[in-house]
Amino acid sequence: MVATGTDVDLSPVHYRGGKVYLIDQRLLPAQEVWLEFDDVADLARAISDMVVRGAPAIGITAAYGLVLAARSAVERGDDVFGCIERAAQLLSQTRPTAVNLFWAIRRMLAVAKSASPDEVVESLEREALRIHREDVAMNVAIGVYGARLLPRKARVLTHCNAGALATGGFGTALGIIRAAILTGKQLKVYVNETRPFLQGARLTMWELTRDGIDCVLVTDGMGAHLMARGLVDAVVVGADRIARNGDVANKIGTYGLAIWAREHGVPFYVAAPTSTLDPELPSGEHIPIEERSPAEVVRIRGVPIAPEGAQVMHPAFDVTPHRYITAIITDCGVLHPPYHQSISEALNAGRAVDD
Ligand code: MRU
Repeated sequence: MVATGTDVDLSPVHYRGGKVYLIDQRLLPAQEVWLEFDDVADLARAISDMVVRGAPAIGITAAYGLVLAARSAVERGDDVFGCIERAAQLLSQTRPTAVNLFWAIRRMLAVAKSASPDEVVESLEREALRIHREDVAMNVAIGVYGARLLPRKARVLTHCNAGALATGGFGTALGIIRAAILTGKQLKVYVNETRPFLQGARLTMWELTRDGIDCVLVTDGMGAHLMARGLVDAVVVGADRIARNGDVANKIGTYGLAIWAREHGVPFYVAAPTSTLDPELPSGEHIPIEERSPAEVVRIRGVPIAPEGAQVMHPAFDVTPHRYITAIITDCGVLHPPYHQSISEALNAGRAVDD
C-alpha cells in the first residue's frame, strides 16, 4: 500500500439543501452510513449519542444545528430568535467538555443577533459554512507546523481519534501525520484502541488505513512498554479544551500517556486549533469533565463484558497538567511553555486576524 496521506476531502459533517448529513461514527468501520437531519433536537441527540464526535466536529455540527432551528422557525412562522436561543440551550447540553461547541454557538448567536428576521437564515448558513471551512484551514496549518517537529523517520503514538472524522476535515493530530507524510517523512503510527468507545481501533485505524498510512493498533495499556523498548519517537494527541495555563482535557487515558512519555524522554505534543483554547478557565481543574453512561463501559456492541450490576466509573476525559506537555501545536504556530504567555499571544494573534 502506498502512503499518500491526501484524503483531504473526508469530512464527517455536510450541509446541503437545508439538511445536515452525518456519517454515523458508531457504526464505523463495519458500515459507512450517512444520516440525514432536518430537526435540531434530533441533531442534538446525535451529538450526545456520538454519531458525530471530536470537539471541532461537534462545534461545526452545532453551528449547522442552529441553521436548522432558524429554517424551521421561519417555515412555521414562529419567533425565529426565540427558537434559535432555545436550540442553542439544547445544543449546549450535549457534550460539556468540548469547548468548540460553546465557541461555535457563541459565534452563531452573535451573527443571529446582528441579522434581520428576513436574512437570519442566510446569515447563519454563511457563518456555519465559514466555521466549517476555517476549521479545515486551521487543521492544515496545524499540520504544517507540527510536521516540522517530527524526525524524518518517526514512530508516533496517538490516542483516540483526532483526525478528519473529529473535525471539519484533515484532522489535528492526524493532520500532522498527514502533513508529515506529504512532506516526504516516513511515519509509523501506533494507535491506542481507546476504551471504551474504541475511537482509536475503529476510527483512527479506518482513517489511516484508507490513506495507506503505516499504522499498528495497540491496546491502551501498551504505551509504557513501547516507550521502554524505544519504539516511540513522539506522542501526538488532540484536545477537547485547553485552559489558560496550558492544562489539556482530552480523551480519558491521555494523562497517563503523558506521564509515561515524560518518564521515557519522549516528546508529548498536543495538536489543537485556537478554537479549543479556553481563555476563561485559569487551569485544568475548572474544566468540566463529561461523565458518560456506564453502559458504554460494561458492554461492547451490546455484548456484556462485566458481571451484571458491576459498579462502573466513566469519566470520558482527563486533564493533562501543562508541565507534561512539550508543545501545543496550533494554527497560530507552536506554543511552548510558559503556556499562560504563549496561549495569550496566540489568542491575541487570532483576534488580530479576525479584526
Ligand atoms: O469523546 P470524543 O470521541 O468526542 O473525544 C474526542 C477526543 O478526545 C479528541 O481527541 C478531541 O476532541 C480532539 S479532536 C480533533
